[in-house]
Amino acid sequence: MTPPYDPSPVTTPLGTETSDFSVRALAGLPEVAPGDDLARLIAAAGPGLADGDILLVTSKIVSKAEGRVLAAGDREAAIDAETVRVVARRGPLRIVENRQGLIMAAAGVDASNTPAGTVLLLPLDPDASARAIRAGLRETLGVDVGVLVTDTFGRPWRNGLTDVAIGSAGVRVLDDLRGGSDSHGNPLSATVVAVADELAAAGDLVKGKTAGRPVAVVRGLARLVGGDDDARALVRDPADDMFRLGTSEAVREAVTQRRTVREFTDEPVDPAAVRRAVAAAVTAPAPHHTTPWRFVLLESAASRTGLLDAMRDAWIEDLRRDGKPAESIAKRVRRGEVLRKAPYLVVPCLVTEGSHHYGDERRDTAEREMFVVATGAGVQNLLVALAGERLGSAWVSSTMFCRDVVREVLGLPPEWDPMGAVAVGHPAGPPKPRPERSASAFIEVR
Ligand SMILES: Cc1cc2nc3c(=O)[nH]c(=O)nc-3n(C[C@H](O)[C@H](O)[C@H](O)COP(=O)(O)O)c2cc1C
Repeated sequence: MTPPYDPSPVTTPLGTETSDFSVRALAGLPEVAPGDDLARLIAAAGPGLADGDILLVTSKIVSKAEGRVLAAGDREAAIDAETVRVVARRGPLRIVENRQGLIMAAAGVDASNTPAGTVLLLPLDPDASARAIRAGLRETLGVDVGVLVTDTFGRPWRNGLTDVAIGSAGVRVLDDLRGGSDSHGNPLSATVVAVADELAAAGDLVKGKTAGRPVAVVRGLARLVGGDDDARALVRDPADDMFRLGTSEAVREAVTQRRTVREFTDEPVDPAAVRRAVAAAVTAPAPHHTTPWRFVLLESAASRTGLLDAMRDAWIEDLRRDGKPAESIAKRVRRGEVLRKAPYLVVPCLVTEGSHHYGDERRDTAEREMFVVATGAGVQNLLVALAGERLGSAWVSSTMFCRDVVREVLGLPPEWDPMGAVAVGHPAGPPKPRPERSASAFIEVR
């Protein structure tokens, strides 16, 4: 027999204050069925509940009471339906953001602790579920308790599972210690304690996964009860999340999210970030084990203006030779100002060192093209790596049309062939959305 609820204290420090608290599992809850009133069942199992207690309620029984049960055959379809965004996928395992905004394996669709042939979905709105239990206990027992709905999560970087809070009512879910100081007087500038998750984990210690005790009660931490924090506050905003994607997904996104950026903010570009991008660029494939890439970094305003002025003059000369009227020339030149608006320029160059000479046009042309496409691969690597540094870029062709001028102004060796120029900077805004391109439109299978 499980002993009745006994709130004898366990001493544990919490936050800056030291508090004694006890955590005990409630015994005697029946198997929960759809439509059951959880507050009444909990009240019957824990008649001694008191103001300031915090209940840790396993989401499984909330799901069962709310009828969030499906036939197991629908598991994959259920995961699809509960998924808002795939964060990481490896084989059949999917870590996703689900409809509740939680990032977890299989969207929280779970086959444990439910009859064979069925799976459980998470409660539709776990904060609302927690509020309903809290209100029901106030009504039934006249007590003011906090309620957390908990679920078991795996964690990035760490082995093992732990319970966390996914729904909350009347509990301060985050203890913000910023602005205070530690015991040595050092200022706390980043310490926000996820107390709701700590409570959930403590509850799991006594509930267990197999003991049939889905509710625990913490007594002694009434200072955390009150307010109307949602457990949603525990979910990091994607914009602040340095780990928004799994490794494979981040690599794919780096490629697909690279877009031409033509408008930049005034924020300077970190030269170290560009060097990291160049280090990635020179890992591109190239013929005959050559390394045909060179990158000229225009880090001074004088070097950029000097190049752009000389290129503009050369372009104007070309257009005059074409017989274009002055007005049309001025218009074209204005359109070519992408590079001038950028706070940083890179001029990628091709060197054909190590290329073969065949002596016939067909093969010599193919050889040259091989080096040119390899340069493209290097530049694409650079752009993708810059995107990974959150830098926007625009690869424009202009230097290719006046190579001698570029070599002369930048003092480059005659065998360096400028292959366009890359404008780099912090994007002034998101790129224009573009319809997704389906692979099938670009594929012939033989
Ligand atoms: C070799 C090359 C030369 C380019 N030249 C120019 C250019 O002179 N001016 C320009 O605005 N964009 C130029 N672009 C950028 C393309 O316009 C751009 O890649 C295209 O519109 C697709 O948009 P996305 O890069 O956002 O996918 C060039 C791109 C490449 C690969």
